[in-house]
Amino acid sequence: MQDSVDLAPQTYDRTQIVLHWAIALLIFGLYAVGLSIDLFDKPVRPFIINLHAVFGLTLLLLVVVRIFWRLTHKSPPLPANMSPLFQKAAAAGHGLLYLLTVAIPLLGVPAFLYRGRPLDLGLIQIPAPFEANRDLAHQVTEIHGLLANILIALVVGHVLVALYHQFVLRDDLLTRMRPR
Ligand code: HEM
Repeated sequence: MQDSVDLAPQTYDRTQIVLHWAIALLIFGLYAVGLSIDLFDKPVRPFIINLHAVFGLTLLLLVVVRIFWRLTHKSPPLPANMSPLFQKAAAAGHGLLYLLTVAIPLLGVPAFLYRGRPLDLGLIQIPAPFEANRDLAHQVTEIHGLLANILIALVVGHVLVALYHQFVLRDDLLTRMRPR
């Protein structure tokens, strides 16, 4: 009788691949825009911040779908020759990536709403449910930005490890997530 590892797929499925690259693109785009807000002329800043919020909430939605998909579908196993320590480190790193991609957009919500402006989603507007509080908005934005820095450092580490597997260990790890 085959065990569950034999039945595990050898690559990620199409949904996981699309979600992975869409989320990666959004993370870098949101980070770049988040850091550049002060470079825009003052009158356009509210529009840019609103755009940042809308794309950030889209990212949150995609991450929630991805977590659901990850829990309900099989993923390819980690390379068999990977030591238990590295397997644990990979699982912890991936867990932290999920955690931060949920926490950062969630913190973005009060960072946005404490500015006292409605969130414009195009078809509907969500009014700020509380009085504007610049100090609080600033403090929450600081934490939001700090976690975003940690996320980007982690993503860079994640990319470097993937490249190391692909080009030094040559275990074809990257191929499992390659768009087809
Ligand atoms: C993973 C998703 C996100 C990333 C990586 C991200 C990244 C960033 C970064 C790097 C900054 C600059 C922080 C600083 O200057 O210290 C920022 C600012 C900000 N973000 Fe996000 N963000 C995300 C999602 C969101 C969401 C979902 C919202 C709102 C619903 C949001 C609202 C804001 C606001 C209001 C600011 C401050 C803008 C300003 O006035 O300068 N962010 N974000």
